[in-house]
Amino acid sequence: MANIVVLGLQWGDEGKGKIVDLLTPSFGVVARYQGGHNAGHTVCLNGRKVVLHLIPSGILHAGTLCVIGNGVVLQPRAFLDEVAELRASGTKIDGNLVISRTTHLIMPYHSLLERINEEMKGARKIGTTCRGIGPAYQDKAARCGIRAGDLLDLGILREKIGENVEEKNSLLGNLGEPLLDAEKIFEEYAGYAGSLKEYITDVPLLLDRKLKEGMSILFEGAQGALLDLDHGTYPYVTSSNSTAGGASTGLGVGPTRIGAVLGVTKAYTTRVGGGPFPTELFEEEGRRLLQRGNEYGATTGRPRRCGWFDALTVAHACRVNGAERMILTKPDVLDGLDEILVCDGYLYKGETLRHFPSESWVLEQVKPSYRAVRGWGEVRGMRDWDRLPQAFRDYVRLIEDLVEARVAVVSTGMERRETILLDQELEGLLDVGAVRAGMQS
Ligand code: IMP
Repeated sequence: MANIVVLGLQWGDEGKGKIVDLLTPSFGVVARYQGGHNAGHTVCLNGRKVVLHLIPSGILHAGTLCVIGNGVVLQPRAFLDEVAELRASGTKIDGNLVISRTTHLIMPYHSLLERINEEMKGARKIGTTCRGIGPAYQDKAARCGIRAGDLLDLGILREKIGENVEEKNSLLGNLGEPLLDAEKIFEEYAGYAGSLKEYITDVPLLLDRKLKEGMSILFEGAQGALLDLDHGTYPYVTSSNSTAGGASTGLGVGPTRIGAVLGVTKAYTTRVGGGPFPTELFEEEGRRLLQRGNEYGATTGRPRRCGWFDALTVAHACRVNGAERMILTKPDVLDGLDEILVCDGYLYKGETLRHFPSESWVLEQVKPSYRAVRGWGEVRGMRDWDRLPQAFRDYVRLIEDLVEARVAVVSTGMERRETILLDQELEGLLDVGAVRAGMQS
Protein backbone atom coordinates (compact mmCIF):
# COMPACT_ATOMS: atom_id res chain seq x y z
CA MET A 1 0.00 0.00 0.00
CA ALA A 2 1.01 3.61 -0.59
CA ASN A 3 2.51 6.00 1.94
CA ILE A 4 -0.05 8.76 2.29
CA VAL A 5 -0.15 12.30 3.60
CA VAL A 6 -3.37 13.28 5.37
CA LEU A 7 -3.66 17.02 5.84
CA GLY A 8 -6.14 19.86 6.17
CA LEU A 9 -7.26 21.83 3.11
CA GLN A 10 -8.51 24.87 5.04
CA TRP A 11 -7.39 26.79 8.12
CA GLY A 12 -7.12 23.72 10.34
CA ASP A 13 -9.74 21.96 12.47
CA GLU A 14 -11.11 20.01 9.50
CA GLY A 15 -11.54 16.86 11.57
CA LYS A 16 -8.16 15.28 10.79
CA GLY A 17 -7.99 13.57 14.19
CA LYS A 18 -10.95 11.33 13.42
CA ILE A 19 -9.70 10.65 9.89
CA VAL A 20 -6.16 9.69 10.91
CA ASP A 21 -7.55 7.44 13.64
CA LEU A 22 -9.97 5.89 11.12
CA LEU A 23 -7.30 5.17 8.48
CA THR A 24 -4.59 3.98 10.90
CA PRO A 25 -5.43 0.24 10.58
CA SER A 26 -4.10 0.42 7.02
CA PHE A 27 -0.66 1.67 8.17
CA GLY A 28 2.20 0.44 10.33
CA VAL A 29 3.43 3.95 11.14
CA VAL A 30 1.72 7.29 11.78
CA ALA A 31 4.12 10.23 11.73
CA ARG A 32 3.66 13.92 12.58
CA TYR A 33 5.86 16.23 10.51
CA GLN A 34 5.23 19.80 11.69
CA GLY A 35 3.59 22.07 14.23
CA GLY A 36 3.54 21.47 17.94
CA HIS A 37 1.07 21.55 20.79
CA ASN A 38 -0.77 24.37 19.01
CA ALA A 39 -2.65 21.56 17.22
CA GLY A 40 -5.72 19.90 18.66
CA HIS A 41 -6.84 16.63 17.13
CA THR A 42 -10.07 15.28 18.57
CA VAL A 43 -10.89 11.60 18.31
CA CYS A 44 -14.19 10.15 19.53
CA LEU A 45 -14.18 6.53 20.70
CA ASN A 46 -17.55 5.10 21.65
CA GLY A 47 -18.70 8.39 23.08
CA ARG A 48 -15.35 9.14 24.81
CA LYS A 49 -13.49 12.19 23.47
CA VAL A 50 -9.69 12.12 23.30
CA VAL A 51 -7.90 15.35 22.38
CA LEU A 52 -4.34 14.97 21.13
CA HIS A 53 -2.02 17.93 20.67
CA LEU A 54 1.43 16.53 19.96
CA ILE A 55 1.15 12.78 19.79
CA PRO A 56 0.03 11.34 16.44
CA SER A 57 -3.64 10.32 16.31
CA GLY A 58 -2.59 6.74 15.48
CA ILE A 59 -1.63 6.17 19.12
CA LEU A 60 -5.08 4.80 19.96
CA HIS A 61 -4.33 1.68 17.89
CA ALA A 62 -2.13 -0.87 19.64
CA GLY A 63 0.81 -1.95 17.50
CA THR A 64 1.05 1.27 15.45
CA LEU A 65 4.39 3.03 15.63
CA CYS A 66 3.87 6.77 16.23
CA VAL A 67 6.60 9.19 15.26
CA ILE A 68 7.25 12.85 16.04
CA GLY A 69 9.48 14.19 13.29
CA ASN A 70 12.18 16.84 13.11
CA GLY A 71 9.68 19.29 11.58
CA VAL A 72 7.72 19.36 14.84
CA VAL A 73 8.56 21.72 17.70
CA LEU A 74 8.18 19.92 21.00
CA GLN A 75 7.37 21.32 24.42
CA PRO A 76 8.62 18.57 26.77
CA ARG A 77 6.12 19.26 29.58
CA ALA A 78 3.20 19.18 27.11
CA PHE A 79 4.49 15.91 25.64
CA LEU A 80 4.94 14.22 29.02
CA ASP A 81 1.53 15.40 30.22
CA GLU A 82 -0.10 13.99 27.09
CA VAL A 83 1.67 10.65 27.56
CA ALA A 84 0.50 10.54 31.19
CA GLU A 85 -3.09 11.34 30.21
CA LEU A 86 -3.14 8.67 27.53
CA ARG A 87 -1.70 6.09 29.89
CA ALA A 88 -4.23 7.02 32.57
CA SER A 89 -7.02 6.36 30.09
CA GLY A 90 -5.64 2.92 29.24
CA THR A 91 -3.61 3.61 26.07
CA LYS A 92 -0.47 1.52 25.93
CA ILE A 93 2.71 3.54 25.31
CA ASP A 94 5.68 1.26 25.36
CA GLY A 95 8.21 1.47 22.55
CA ASN A 96 5.50 2.57 20.10
CA LEU A 97 6.20 6.31 20.35
CA VAL A 98 9.42 8.03 19.25
CA ILE A 99 10.79 11.55 18.88
CA SER A 100 13.43 12.51 16.32
CA ARG A 101 16.85 13.50 17.64
CA THR A 102 16.58 16.61 15.47
CA THR A 103 13.19 17.80 16.72
CA HIS A 104 13.52 21.34 18.08
CA LEU A 105 12.42 22.01 21.64
CA ILE A 106 10.13 24.79 22.75
CA MET A 107 11.79 26.64 25.61
CA PRO A 108 10.13 28.83 28.30
CA TYR A 109 11.41 32.01 26.62
CA HIS A 110 9.62 31.14 23.37
CA SER A 111 6.10 31.58 24.74
CA LEU A 112 7.22 34.61 26.73
CA LEU A 113 8.64 36.35 23.65
CA GLU A 114 5.57 35.41 21.62
CA ARG A 115 3.22 37.06 24.10
CA ILE A 116 5.28 40.26 24.07
CA ASN A 117 5.39 40.23 20.26
CA GLU A 118 1.65 39.68 19.86
CA GLU A 119 0.90 42.50 22.32
CA MET A 120 3.18 44.86 20.41
CA LYS A 121 1.32 44.13 17.16
CA GLY A 122 -1.95 45.48 18.58
CA ALA A 123 -4.78 45.29 16.04
CA ARG A 124 -2.54 43.48 13.53
CA LYS A 125 -1.81 40.62 15.89
CA ILE A 126 -1.91 37.13 14.39
CA GLY A 127 -3.97 35.66 17.20
CA THR A 128 -1.50 32.83 17.77
CA THR A 129 -2.05 30.05 20.29
CA CYS A 130 0.79 31.59 22.40
CA ARG A 131 2.42 28.18 22.79
CA GLY A 132 5.85 29.45 21.67
CA ILE A 133 5.56 27.81 18.26
CA GLY A 134 6.66 30.77 16.10
CA PRO A 135 9.67 31.77 18.25
CA ALA A 136 10.85 28.13 18.40
CA TYR A 137 10.86 27.98 14.59
CA GLN A 138 12.55 31.41 14.55
CA ASP A 139 15.42 29.99 16.62
CA LYS A 140 15.60 26.96 14.33
CA ALA A 141 16.00 29.24 11.30
CA ALA A 142 18.44 31.44 13.23
CA ARG A 143 20.48 28.28 13.96
CA CYS A 144 20.45 28.70 17.71
CA GLY A 145 17.66 26.23 18.53
CA ILE A 146 17.99 23.42 21.05
CA ARG A 147 17.07 19.97 19.76
CA ALA A 148 15.88 16.76 21.39
CA GLY A 149 19.30 15.19 20.75
CA ASP A 150 20.91 17.92 22.89
CA LEU A 151 19.11 16.47 25.91
CA LEU A 152 21.38 13.45 25.62
CA ASP A 153 24.43 15.42 26.81
CA LEU A 154 23.73 17.68 29.79
CA GLY A 155 27.00 19.58 29.31
CA ILE A 156 25.98 20.58 25.81
CA LEU A 157 22.45 21.36 27.00
CA ARG A 158 23.72 23.72 29.73
CA GLU A 159 26.01 25.50 27.25
CA LYS A 160 23.25 25.98 24.68
CA ILE A 161 20.72 27.21 27.22
CA GLY A 162 23.34 29.65 28.55
CA GLU A 163 24.01 31.10 25.09
CA ASN A 164 20.33 31.44 24.31
CA VAL A 165 19.44 33.02 27.63
CA GLU A 166 22.24 35.58 27.25
CA GLU A 167 20.85 36.61 23.87
CA LYS A 168 17.19 36.65 24.97
CA ASN A 169 18.06 38.59 28.14
CA SER A 170 19.61 41.40 26.15
CA LEU A 171 16.31 41.74 24.31
CA LEU A 172 14.18 41.43 27.44
CA GLY A 173 16.39 43.95 29.26
CA ASN A 174 15.82 46.51 26.49
CA LEU A 175 12.08 45.96 26.77
CA GLY A 176 12.18 46.41 30.55
CA GLU A 177 10.99 42.84 31.11
CA PRO A 178 12.23 40.56 33.95
CA LEU A 179 15.34 38.56 32.99
CA LEU A 180 15.57 34.79 32.59
CA ASP A 181 17.58 32.52 34.86
CA ALA A 182 19.64 30.13 32.71
CA GLU A 183 20.36 27.72 35.56
CA LYS A 184 16.68 27.38 36.45
CA ILE A 185 15.81 26.58 32.84
CA PHE A 186 18.67 24.10 32.68
CA GLU A 187 17.44 22.32 35.84
CA GLU A 188 13.93 22.04 34.37
CA TYR A 189 15.14 20.69 31.01
CA ALA A 190 17.71 18.37 32.57
CA GLY A 191 14.73 16.87 34.43
CA TYR A 192 12.89 16.36 31.14
CA ALA A 193 15.99 14.78 29.64
CA GLY A 194 15.67 11.84 32.03
CA SER A 195 12.06 11.19 31.01
CA LEU A 196 12.45 11.86 27.28
CA LYS A 197 15.60 9.82 26.68
CA GLU A 198 13.69 6.61 26.00
CA TYR A 199 11.73 8.22 23.14
CA ILE A 200 14.57 9.94 21.28
CA THR A 201 15.87 8.17 18.20
CA ASP A 202 17.22 8.54 14.66
CA VAL A 203 13.89 8.86 12.84
CA PRO A 204 15.09 8.92 9.19
CA LEU A 205 16.99 5.70 9.85
CA LEU A 206 14.06 4.07 11.65
CA LEU A 207 11.55 5.02 8.94
CA ASP A 208 13.86 3.81 6.18
CA ARG A 209 14.04 0.42 7.96
CA LYS A 210 10.27 0.25 8.39
CA LEU A 211 9.70 1.06 4.71
CA LYS A 212 12.19 -1.62 3.69
CA GLU A 213 10.34 -4.10 5.91
CA GLY A 214 7.21 -3.30 3.85
CA MET A 215 5.35 -1.12 6.35
CA SER A 216 3.48 1.89 5.07
CA ILE A 217 3.42 5.33 6.63
CA LEU A 218 0.58 7.74 7.20
CA PHE A 219 2.05 11.25 7.36
CA GLU A 220 -0.17 13.31 9.64
CA GLY A 221 -0.40 17.03 8.94
CA ALA A 222 -1.38 19.50 11.65
CA GLN A 223 -3.14 22.86 11.15
CA GLY A 224 -4.16 23.28 7.49
CA ALA A 225 -2.85 24.33 4.09
CA LEU A 226 -4.11 27.91 4.48
CA LEU A 227 -1.98 28.21 7.63
CA ASP A 228 1.15 27.05 5.78
CA LEU A 229 4.05 29.48 6.14
CA ASP A 230 4.59 29.69 2.37
CA HIS A 231 1.24 28.86 0.80
CA GLY A 232 -1.20 30.14 3.40
CA THR A 233 -2.65 33.57 4.13
CA TYR A 234 0.70 35.09 5.13
CA PRO A 235 1.36 36.66 7.63
CA TYR A 236 -1.72 35.15 9.30
CA VAL A 237 -0.27 31.66 9.28
CA THR A 238 1.58 29.27 11.53
CA SER A 239 5.37 29.05 11.30
CA SER A 240 5.76 25.66 9.64
CA ASN A 241 5.03 23.96 6.32
CA SER A 242 1.75 22.19 6.93
CA THR A 243 1.51 21.35 3.21
CA ALA A 244 2.62 18.00 1.80
CA GLY A 245 6.23 19.02 1.11
CA GLY A 246 6.67 19.38 4.86
CA ALA A 247 6.09 15.63 5.25
CA SER A 248 9.34 14.92 3.48
CA THR A 249 11.54 17.56 5.11
CA GLY A 250 9.80 17.17 8.48
CA LEU A 251 10.62 13.48 8.83
CA GLY A 252 13.59 12.84 6.60
CA VAL A 253 11.67 10.63 4.18
CA GLY A 254 12.37 11.38 0.51
CA PRO A 255 9.50 12.62 -1.70
CA THR A 256 9.84 9.57 -3.96
CA ARG A 257 8.35 7.55 -1.12
CA ILE A 258 5.13 9.51 -0.81
CA GLY A 259 2.36 7.95 -2.87
CA ALA A 260 -0.63 10.24 -2.46
CA VAL A 261 -2.15 13.10 -0.54
CA LEU A 262 -5.63 12.96 0.98
CA GLY A 263 -6.94 16.41 1.85
CA VAL A 264 -9.51 16.85 4.59
CA THR A 265 -12.10 19.61 4.24
CA LYS A 266 -15.19 20.56 6.16
CA ALA A 267 -18.44 21.14 4.24
CA TYR A 268 -18.16 24.74 5.43
CA THR A 269 -15.18 26.82 6.60
CA THR A 270 -13.77 27.85 9.96
CA ARG A 271 -10.72 29.71 11.13
CA VAL A 272 -9.31 30.69 14.52
CA GLY A 273 -7.29 33.83 15.14
CA GLY A 274 -6.81 36.83 12.86
CA GLY A 275 -6.53 37.10 9.09
CA PRO A 276 -8.75 37.34 6.03
CA PHE A 277 -11.74 35.01 5.65
CA PRO A 278 -13.87 35.96 2.62
CA THR A 279 -16.87 33.68 3.28
CA GLU A 280 -17.12 34.45 6.99
CA LEU A 281 -20.66 34.65 8.39
CA PHE A 282 -21.60 36.97 11.21
CA GLU A 283 -24.35 37.24 13.80
CA GLU A 284 -27.16 34.66 13.62
CA GLU A 285 -25.82 32.72 10.60
CA GLY A 286 -22.28 32.49 11.96
CA ARG A 287 -23.50 31.62 15.45
CA ARG A 288 -25.65 28.79 14.07
CA LEU A 289 -22.62 27.08 12.51
CA LEU A 290 -20.52 27.75 15.60
CA GLN A 291 -23.05 26.06 17.86
CA ARG A 292 -24.19 23.23 15.60
CA GLY A 293 -20.60 22.38 14.70
CA ASN A 294 -19.34 22.88 18.27
CA GLU A 295 -16.66 25.07 16.75
CA TYR A 296 -14.47 25.84 19.73
CA GLY A 297 -10.67 25.44 19.58
CA ALA A 298 -9.53 22.08 20.95
CA THR A 299 -6.32 23.73 22.22
CA THR A 300 -7.33 27.22 23.31
CA GLY A 301 -11.13 26.89 23.64
CA ARG A 302 -11.53 30.01 21.47
CA PRO A 303 -14.75 30.18 19.39
CA ARG A 304 -13.92 29.61 15.72
CA ARG A 305 -15.00 32.03 13.03
CA CYS A 306 -17.42 30.21 10.69
CA GLY A 307 -18.49 30.66 7.06
CA TRP A 308 -19.56 28.95 3.84
CA PHE A 309 -17.45 26.48 1.90
CA ASP A 310 -14.92 28.36 -0.22
CA ALA A 311 -13.96 26.44 -3.36
CA LEU A 312 -11.13 28.86 -4.20
CA THR A 313 -9.25 28.21 -0.97
CA VAL A 314 -9.75 24.45 -1.19
CA ALA A 315 -8.75 24.34 -4.88
CA HIS A 316 -5.58 26.29 -4.02
CA ALA A 317 -4.89 23.85 -1.17
CA CYS A 318 -5.37 20.82 -3.45
CA ARG A 319 -3.02 22.39 -6.00
CA VAL A 320 -0.13 23.14 -3.65
CA ASN A 321 -0.47 19.72 -2.03
CA GLY A 322 -1.02 17.64 -5.14
CA ALA A 323 -4.20 16.35 -3.47
CA GLU A 324 -6.45 14.62 -5.98
CA ARG A 325 -8.83 13.24 -3.39
CA MET A 326 -10.72 14.89 -0.59
CA ILE A 327 -12.27 13.70 2.63
CA LEU A 328 -15.40 15.69 3.38
CA THR A 329 -16.24 16.18 7.06
CA LYS A 330 -19.12 17.61 9.09
CA PRO A 331 -21.74 17.98 6.32
CA ASP A 332 -24.28 17.05 9.01
CA VAL A 333 -23.73 20.49 10.58
CA LEU A 334 -25.59 21.87 7.53
CA ASP A 335 -28.49 19.39 7.94
CA GLY A 336 -31.90 21.01 7.92
CA LEU A 337 -30.88 24.24 6.17
CA ASP A 338 -33.13 25.34 3.26
CA GLU A 339 -30.23 26.59 1.21
CA ILE A 340 -26.47 26.11 1.34
CA LEU A 341 -23.99 28.45 -0.33
CA VAL A 342 -20.68 27.59 -1.98
CA CYS A 343 -18.21 30.33 -2.93
CA ASP A 344 -17.09 30.03 -6.57
CA GLY A 345 -15.29 33.35 -7.11
CA TYR A 346 -14.12 36.60 -5.56
CA LEU A 347 -15.21 40.04 -6.79
CA TYR A 348 -12.23 42.37 -6.68
CA LYS A 349 -11.98 45.84 -8.24
CA GLY A 350 -14.71 45.11 -10.81
CA GLU A 351 -13.30 41.71 -11.81
CA THR A 352 -14.12 38.17 -10.75
CA LEU A 353 -11.12 36.21 -9.50
CA ARG A 354 -11.40 32.45 -10.03
CA HIS A 355 -8.14 31.58 -8.31
CA PHE A 356 -7.02 32.20 -4.77
CA PRO A 357 -4.86 35.36 -4.54
CA SER A 358 -1.58 35.05 -2.63
CA GLU A 359 -1.76 38.43 -0.91
CA SER A 360 -3.74 38.70 2.30
CA TRP A 361 -4.34 42.39 1.61
CA VAL A 362 -6.14 41.43 -1.63
CA LEU A 363 -8.12 38.75 0.18
CA GLU A 364 -9.19 41.33 2.76
CA GLN A 365 -10.89 43.37 0.02
CA VAL A 366 -12.69 40.65 -1.99
CA LYS A 367 -16.42 39.90 -1.91
CA PRO A 368 -17.36 36.27 -2.48
CA SER A 369 -19.73 35.21 -5.26
CA TYR A 370 -21.87 32.19 -4.42
CA ARG A 371 -23.71 29.27 -5.96
CA ALA A 372 -26.80 28.24 -4.03
CA VAL A 373 -27.52 24.56 -3.42
CA ARG A 374 -30.88 23.35 -2.06
CA GLY A 375 -30.82 21.86 1.42
CA TRP A 376 -30.56 18.09 1.69
CA GLY A 377 -32.46 17.30 4.87
CA GLU A 378 -30.41 14.89 7.02
CA VAL A 379 -27.12 13.09 6.47
CA ARG A 380 -26.06 12.74 10.12
CA GLY A 381 -24.77 9.26 10.92
CA MET A 382 -25.38 7.89 7.41
CA ARG A 383 -23.05 5.13 6.20
CA ASP A 384 -24.18 4.33 2.70
CA TRP A 385 -23.47 6.59 -0.27
CA ASP A 386 -26.43 5.27 -2.26
CA ARG A 387 -28.85 6.23 0.48
CA LEU A 388 -27.64 9.82 0.75
CA PRO A 389 -30.17 12.45 -0.37
CA GLN A 390 -29.78 13.45 -4.03
CA ALA A 391 -29.38 17.12 -3.04
CA PHE A 392 -26.35 16.18 -0.93
CA ARG A 393 -24.81 14.19 -3.76
CA ASP A 394 -25.37 17.20 -6.06
CA TYR A 395 -23.54 19.34 -3.52
CA VAL A 396 -20.61 16.91 -3.47
CA ARG A 397 -20.43 16.93 -7.28
CA LEU A 398 -20.49 20.74 -7.34
CA ILE A 399 -17.58 20.90 -4.89
CA GLU A 400 -15.65 18.31 -6.89
CA ASP A 401 -16.14 20.29 -10.10
CA LEU A 402 -15.13 23.60 -8.56
CA VAL A 403 -12.12 22.20 -6.68
CA GLU A 404 -11.05 19.71 -9.37
CA ALA A 405 -10.57 16.85 -6.92
CA ARG A 406 -12.71 13.83 -6.04
CA VAL A 407 -14.39 13.11 -2.73
CA ALA A 408 -13.17 9.72 -1.47
CA VAL A 409 -14.59 9.67 2.06
CA VAL A 410 -17.54 11.41 3.71
CA SER A 411 -17.64 11.68 7.49
CA THR A 412 -21.19 12.00 8.84
CA GLY A 413 -20.47 12.03 12.58
CA MET A 414 -17.71 11.88 15.20
CA GLU A 415 -17.59 8.10 15.63
CA ARG A 416 -15.46 5.86 13.39
CA ARG A 417 -18.53 4.01 12.09
CA GLU A 418 -20.20 7.26 10.96
CA THR A 419 -18.23 7.27 7.75
CA ILE A 420 -18.79 6.53 4.06
CA LEU A 421 -15.80 5.11 2.18
CA LEU A 422 -15.93 5.31 -1.61
CA ASP A 423 -13.97 2.18 -2.41
CA GLN A 424 -13.24 3.00 -6.06
CA GLU A 425 -11.46 6.23 -4.96
CA LEU A 426 -9.37 4.48 -2.30
CA GLU A 427 -8.37 1.34 -4.13
CA GLY A 428 -4.60 0.86 -4.28
CA LEU A 429 -4.05 3.58 -1.67
CA LEU A 430 -5.43 1.93 1.42
CA ASP A 431 -6.33 -1.44 2.81
CA VAL A 432 -10.05 -0.63 2.74
CA GLY A 433 -10.90 -3.96 4.41
CA ALA A 434 -8.71 -3.13 7.43
CA VAL A 435 -10.23 0.35 7.69
CA ARG A 436 -13.76 -1.08 7.51
CA ALA A 437 -12.91 -3.63 10.22
CA GLY A 438 -11.68 -0.78 12.45
CA MET A 439 -14.97 1.06 11.88
CA GLN A 440 -16.81 -1.72 13.69
CA SER A 441 -14.71 -1.36 16.87
P1 IMP B 1 0.56 29.57 16.05
O1 IMP B 1 0.58 28.29 15.29
O2 IMP B 1 0.28 29.38 17.51
O3 IMP B 1 1.78 30.41 15.80
O4 IMP B 1 -0.69 30.44 15.51
C1 IMP B 1 -0.72 30.98 14.20
C2 IMP B 1 -2.12 30.91 13.63
O5 IMP B 1 -2.45 29.55 13.37
C3 IMP B 1 -3.22 31.45 14.56
O6 IMP B 1 -4.23 32.06 13.76
C4 IMP B 1 -3.76 30.20 15.21
O7 IMP B 1 -5.10 30.37 15.64
C5 IMP B 1 -3.66 29.22 14.05
N1 IMP B 1 -3.55 27.82 14.47
C6 IMP B 1 -2.48 27.20 14.99
N2 IMP B 1 -2.75 25.91 15.23
C7 IMP B 1 -4.02 25.71 14.84
C8 IMP B 1 -4.86 24.55 14.80
O8 IMP B 1 -4.49 23.43 15.18
N3 IMP B 1 -6.10 24.75 14.31
C9 IMP B 1 -6.53 25.95 13.85
N4 IMP B 1 -5.78 27.05 13.86
C10 IMP B 1 -4.53 26.93 14.35
